[in-house]
Amino acid sequence: KILILDFGSQVTQLIARRVRELNIYCEIHPYNKIPAIGEDVKGVILSGSPCSVRDEDSPRVDLSLFRGKLPVLGICYGAQLLAFTSGGEVYNAGHREYGRAKLQKVAENPLLNDVSENNQVWMSHGDTIMSIPEDFEIIGSTESVKIAAFHIKGEQTYGIQFHPEVTHSLEGKTMLKNFVIGVCGCSQDWTADSFVDITVAELKAQLGDDKVVLGLSGGVDSSVAAVLIHKAIGKNLYCIFVDNGLLRKNEFEDVLDSYKNLGLNVKGVDAKEQFYTALAGLSDPEAKRKAIGKVFIDVFDQESHLIEDVKWLGQGTIYPDIIESVSVSGGPSQTIKSHHNVGGLPDYMKLKIVEPLKTLFKDEVRLVGKTLEIPQFILGRHPFPGPGLGIRILGDVTAEKVQILQEVDHIFINGLKNKGFYDNVWQAGAMLLPIQSVGVMGDERTYERVVALRAVSSVDGMTADWCHLPYEFLAEISNEIINKVKGVNRVVYDISSKPPATIEWE
Ligand code: XMP
Repeated sequence: KILILDFGSQVTQLIARRVRELNIYCEIHPYNKIPAIGEDVKGVILSGSPCSVRDEDSPRVDLSLFRGKLPVLGICYGAQLLAFTSGGEVYNAGHREYGRAKLQKVAENPLLNDVSENNQVWMSHGDTIMSIPEDFEIIGSTESVKIAAFHIKGEQTYGIQFHPEVTHSLEGKTMLKNFVIGVCGCSQDWTADSFVDITVAELKAQLGDDKVVLGLSGGVDSSVAAVLIHKAIGKNLYCIFVDNGLLRKNEFEDVLDSYKNLGLNVKGVDAKEQFYTALAGLSDPEAKRKAIGKVFIDVFDQESHLIEDVKWLGQGTIYPDIIESVSVSGGPSQTIKSHHNVGGLPDYMKLKIVEPLKTLFKDEVRLVGKTLEIPQFILGRHPFPGPGLGIRILGDVTAEKVQILQEVDHIFINGLKNKGFYDNVWQAGAMLLPIQSVGVMGDERTYERVVALRAVSSVDGMTADWCHLPYEFLAEISNEIINKVKGVNRVVYDISSKPPATIEWE
């Protein structure tokens, strides 16, 4: 595997993505928590950073742990660190160099094999390497950066000032490939198939004859985790799928059916009334989230106590949920995102946690799901928040409002599917607004509810843009909703991006 040491760059995860795309396994670790470097580590990549190596308190590592022993590639800050700690000079360039540049090959080097002359690379740095020691050899330059790529003679150590991991570096992937395959000698055996084989074997060894309980949400991650664990331990996996009364129309039945078809042992628990009771009279979004989370834990706890001698809790945690983010702005500190689906289970449950997807990115989870023959109906689903329609009904939640919103949402989502827009939209849904508006139907005045439709494009939900769905489509959907859903007389379309808005309204 390849070890990626994170110095706090915004794009460290992209380095890992690119290496994984080459079917090579890699792990990201914070620079100040380097794991033991065993024989399985074939090379080390040093990431970029918002810091300057000239600052006393900038992030440092003991390079002698691996330099000279293993191939090393420093990217941006990583390259500056290699140069600076070897006696090179790094200065503030006076201005941030940001954007495209053309890379000229200055010397033949394996790192630049198959890379064309004057290829486009992406720069984003404030500091520049001004001089390098004797044993450093310049292998690439751009017009404004002479030392854009270097090699340390007698070592398999390289530094590059630009960012090969971003797509604007058009041949960056070739350079990364040259490093991880050509220099490090990694083999490209990290595939969904091999992941399944290895993980199932590991789960068998880890779990033995123990029982595992797992909460299914209908989403991709928990579904793939369940099928994987099921493959390892079969009937000892007990899945619980809770109907919180805030799911989409028919979702409970549909999803339950498809899980059963997959051979999973799933218990569907109808807890609608418990959720509605807990939500009664609550209109503050966070209070609703808390109430929903609490009932979920109570129900899950009750149900898992019915399984005799269960020892493990299975979770669909994925890699972005657990990568420790390095914050270098206010001194090194780490925060770990907690998984929100079944997060915060009380200690008294005393279950050990098993998370078979915790090394995977979202698209890798989908590939594994495909290998496991999980139907596209589940793998291709839009994300759906844990609190469900509870946070799409603005204000207090009642069973009647849920039913209205389910009908509206169903028309919208079905419309997207029927017209072939569904797969190009990252997430879509409808909000029931806490206002009424005046309308006219036939000769009669109406005074009814307003719904808002939202469809966004996004990569990870952190930023999003509203989808420019065709007017004709929106017109059809609006007509259908107003004609078919009793109690709604007005439909609006949300044209706000995130930021400054968020995807959900609450
Ligand atoms: P926002 O509204 O923050 O949403 O732009 C980003 C993504 O997160 C989902 N979301 C949630 N998921 N529990 C969840 O499990 C929540 O409380 C929650 N709030 C928002 C949202 O649907 C979107 O995909």
